[in-house]
Amino acid sequence: MSAVTENPVSPAADDAGGAPLLEVRDVAKYFGSVNALQGISLKAYAGEVTCVLGDNGAGKSTLIKILSGVFQPDEGEFLIEGQPVTLAGPREARAQGIATVFQDLATVPLMSLWRNFFLGQEPTHGRGPLQRLDVGKARTIMREELLKMGIDVRDPNQNVGTLSGGERQALAIARAVYFGARVLILDEPTSALGVRQSGIVLKYIVQAREMGKGVIFITHNPHHAYPVGDRFYLLKRGQLMASVAKSDTTIEGLTEMMAGGAELAQLSQELMGLTAGAGAPDPELAEVARTLAEEAPAAPEDGAS
Ligand SMILES: Nc1ncnc2c1ncn2[C@@H]1O[C@H](COP(=O)(O)OP(=O)(O)O)[C@@H](O)[C@H]1O
Ligand SMILES: [Mg+2]
Repeated sequence: MSAVTENPVSPAADDAGGAPLLEVRDVAKYFGSVNALQGISLKAYAGEVTCVLGDNGAGKSTLIKILSGVFQPDEGEFLIEGQPVTLAGPREARAQGIATVFQDLATVPLMSLWRNFFLGQEPTHGRGPLQRLDVGKARTIMREELLKMGIDVRDPNQNVGTLSGGERQALAIARAVYFGARVLILDEPTSALGVRQSGIVLKYIVQAREMGKGVIFITHNPHHAYPVGDRFYLLKRGQLMASVAKSDTTIEGLTEMMAGGAELAQLSQELMGLTAGAGAPDPELAEVARTLAEEAPAAPEDGAS
């Protein structure tokens, strides 16, 4: 396939010019004796979507927890706009304009839209003991900010639970943008969504990039990453397996890099052999073999994962 496997960390992927908004150099993270991350270097630029790909357990969430100040790296450097920094916690990260949207914790389903939008940072009027929430203003701001993302909210009092999964992610993204995020980190925002809803979230990712934000998009689906991503980092068992710029890869190249195309093809052939040889072929096994054959080298659009 492409240069990706021969040249695991392609210099092209790191070559956007200017200081990256966020950068980690050679970071490592240990949990006791478990080495969750080793030798990870990544750059995220303003006005770009940086994708972090990898299977379950690859270390994606650990990496974004370092980027969002939840964990401190045990080794390596963290830089914001070229300056080495140590983030003591998520609050400090937020103060630096780094906003993280977690898949499940992004919104509170039984709370109204406007409450979710502000979550304790509501505008107020009056002073001292007379200070009150400015509910009217909160509702107006929320409506306007969501309209910017193309969501027309009829009733700001409706619960977040009434929104679709994609719209909930959009609300969390709009909130981060409104509160001044420069870097948006999205941990698997599309993993629980179907094709159409994923499409909605991908659209907001593109919008945030067009506003000049640096977006870090974590996913295990190359079909979600490729259309919106500018550069791609692939993690495997805590290591950086490859990094590649969009201009140096294709959707097939990315899928193959993700799935280990050659491994899939071989596995599929072995399974085909097994099912063909048996007197009464196991239909489930045959189905798995067919699916694998379809997925190697290019996975079909599945949307659900
Ligand atoms: N708090 C923790 N304590 C111990 N091990 C952890 C902890 N968090 C993650 N790990 C381990 O680190 C590895 C990477 O996990 P994670 O970053 O969650 O992967 P991903 O998000 O790619 O699925 C896994 O082996 C996981 O078990
Ligand atoms: Mg994870």
